[in-house]
Amino acid sequence: PFGLLSELRQQTPVRYDSVRNCWDVFSYGEVQRILKDPKTFSSVRGAAGGQNLLFIDPPKHKQLRDLVNKAFTPKAIQGLVPRIEEISADLLDGVDGVDMNLVSDFATPLPVIVIAELLGTPAEDRAHFKHWSDILVESAEDESAEAYEAIMRKRMEAMQELAQYFGQLIKVRSRIPKDDLISALLAAKIDGVQLTEHEVISFCVLLLAAGNETTTNLIANGMRVLCEQPELQDELNRSPELIPGFIEETLRYYPPIIAIGRTATMDVELGSQRFKTGDQIIAWVGAANRDESVFAAPDRFDPRRMPNPHMSFGFGIHFCLGAPLARLEGKIALQMLTNRFDQFQLPDGNDLVPIRSSFVFGVKEYPISFV
Ligand code: HEM
Repeated sequence: PFGLLSELRQQTPVRYDSVRNCWDVFSYGEVQRILKDPKTFSSVRGAAGGQNLLFIDPPKHKQLRDLVNKAFTPKAIQGLVPRIEEISADLLDGVDGVDMNLVSDFATPLPVIVIAELLGTPAEDRAHFKHWSDILVESAEDESAEAYEAIMRKRMEAMQELAQYFGQLIKVRSRIPKDDLISALLAAKIDGVQLTEHEVISFCVLLLAAGNETTTNLIANGMRVLCEQPELQDELNRSPELIPGFIEETLRYYPPIIAIGRTATMDVELGSQRFKTGDQIIAWVGAANRDESVFAAPDRFDPRRMPNPHMSFGFGIHFCLGAPLARLEGKIALQMLTNRFDQFQLPDGNDLVPIRSSFVFGVKEYPISFV
């Protein structure tokens, strides 16, 4: 979709989409202006969005965010390195036979297991998590409305089961706390008031929903770059220190989330267009990331690009809480996979099954064979 997004950005940096009944914003400067002004461009959704970090505005947002930030600082996350390496190695060792599906055998379970452990779920429950994460990434069998509804129903059920599961775990941890994120959330106070059980559950579900599919797609998209530009494989093999830059550039070039939604809270002018209070706005990060006024040769994939101010983790107060974790998981995954590279046969681009969505960019199936 990136060619089309660039065309749109060049022709109409800000435009009204009468089919979807919302504004599209494509240029870097305007996307950034939206994301850094939560007063004018609110994240609050209707009742369906629920009350979690993503869908609240200041001041409540800051209180909740400060509370969970500690668990996600780069320093706190660094402590997870040995465990993430171990999980990655186990997943690769567990591949049966010569064929693997990068997405379902590796890139999906890795972030699910990591976040489940971080929250403090017992190891023996891991199989449930695999089951739920499989459902959450499953896609409709065909394009019919029935198939779509069936899959949405299954997803809703899985989310409800997850919420129930956390509800029970929270009861256990309230009685006997452990050194884990759930116990920390239960003990924390905002203005002297503890979070309700409901708020803790909703945060756990948010972490799973916001962190899993995105990280899966980061890993799959990075591998996709390597299969489209095989010369980069040799380069990474020769210079593994390029991997963090490679991950950053994958985020810019193939962002797992292409677009971020906001609502105007007042009448405002942007890019010579007038938005009215209540207007829906889509900030196209996938277009901003290739804006030639910010990125030289934007359609070139360059693991040495420096600086690389992509907005794939958002910008401003809602900047992705899980960014340090996602970067680390991406780095370890690519290290592990490229280490075993000469034994891999990457698919040609036609074998990749892309996810069909205008907001998510990723790969549904990614077959690899050992040679
Ligand atoms: C927020 C992307 C991984 C948790 C965001 C936002 C983006 C994003 C674009 C901002 C949304 C907005 O402004 O409305 C990504 C990408 C990821 C990733 C591309 C992987 C490559 C993770 C992980 C976690 C996580 C691993 C948790 C473990 C969150 C949370 C928020 C958030 C809690 C809300 C923060 C807030 O509203 O203050 N993410 N994310 N994300 N992300 Fe991520």
